[in-house]
Amino acid sequence: MITGTGFVGGNIAAKFVDEGVSVTALDLKPKVLDFLEAAEKSRKLSFAKGDTRSFRLIEELVKAEKPRILIHTATFLNPTEAYDTFEVNVRGTANVLELARRYDLTMVYLSSGAIYGQMNGTADICEDEKFGPAYPPREGIDNVSGAPYCMSKRLGEEWVAMYRALYGLRAVALRLAWVYGRGITDYRLNTAISLFLRKAIVKEEVHIPYGGDTFVDFVHVSDVADIVYNAATLPVPKDFAFNVAYERGSRFSELIDVTKSVVPGAKLSLGPGLWPSKGVPIPRGGPSFPSERHMSIERAKASLAYSPKFDLEAGVRNYLQWIEKNWDISSPEAVPFPKWG
Ligand SMILES: NC(=O)c1ccc[n+]([C@@H]2O[C@H](COP(=O)([O-])OP(=O)(O)OC[C@H]3O[C@@H](n4cnc5c(N)ncnc54)[C@H](O)[C@@H]3O)[C@@H](O)[C@H]2O)c1
Repeated sequence: MITGTGFVGGNIAAKFVDEGVSVTALDLKPKVLDFLEAAEKSRKLSFAKGDTRSFRLIEELVKAEKPRILIHTATFLNPTEAYDTFEVNVRGTANVLELARRYDLTMVYLSSGAIYGQMNGTADICEDEKFGPAYPPREGIDNVSGAPYCMSKRLGEEWVAMYRALYGLRAVALRLAWVYGRGITDYRLNTAISLFLRKAIVKEEVHIPYGGDTFVDFVHVSDVADIVYNAATLPVPKDFAFNVAYERGSRFSELIDVTKSVVPGAKLSLGPGLWPSKGVPIPRGGPSFPSERHMSIERAKASLAYSPKFDLEAGVRNYLQWIEKNWDISSPEAVPFPKWG
């Protein structure tokens, strides 16, 4: 069973079906993307409409479907709604977790690199490092949506870790970097990779005098789906939390170069410096805390056989194919560009 079959959950569902596993997908608003259509038709994937905030509802589903694995991706993200962020990301997690305990399910909790908060320095971030502050937002750098989201992921992870320690629950937490690839259908089409690609496709020129030095740990959604599958099916590792990124991070200037190489004729340029958090619509991503630090993936490689396949160029090329194929839902007519550039 997968809670939340949005961007990441949808790709995880496809991975499990490809591996021969039947999947029940629970979502507030189930959405069948093109790469899930065949699985749904063949009934290897079934969708259920429901809310993780309702323990009774999801318990009924677990009783009916009898899953053995529970992948928890359902999440709420809205910069101004700390209360709902708590309700879905913390209470919803507590519900799912209690079900995993009662019905003896292996659980994978989708956490986030945002959990680290405001980190100084440049060395790679390891999982056991002390988290930085979550708030207040640093003027001109952090997005205001960061703090409630970051806190909700910290609380959620702690609650899962406690169940593992107290009840012997088979559970791991995966702290994802900034994920990109097929299946993005919402406001994130106006962030970083998606935005630059869409501007390049419509041959719109983008010349911005800042932002090129912004550092981001990008990870392709296919690599995320692979490690979720490993985490759910390998023996429970000694460690609980794992970073999930690519081998290294990238600066926006590199992203611009990659975009120009995969979309010939694209006219894009960024000047030096960081992308500010206010004043211009984001391509930086809502929840992410800016950091100069890459999340080390050594632990995931050693314990979860993690082996990311998509470097930035291969990943963006792969994503471009999906956007072009799904232009009806990816075009500026479907999701208008922000008013800048
Ligand atoms: N996308 C990223 O870059 C990224 C980075 C780090 C961590 N993550 C984590 O990965 C997970 C999945 O993220 P995503 O990008 O797929 O998000 P998403 O918004 O695309 O998908 C989340 C899904 O959860 C559903 N949902 C929300 N509230 C629900 C509820 N109460 N009950 C049932 N379903 C509900 C939504 O309808 C949506 O389909 C999240 O836990 C997120 O924190 C994502």
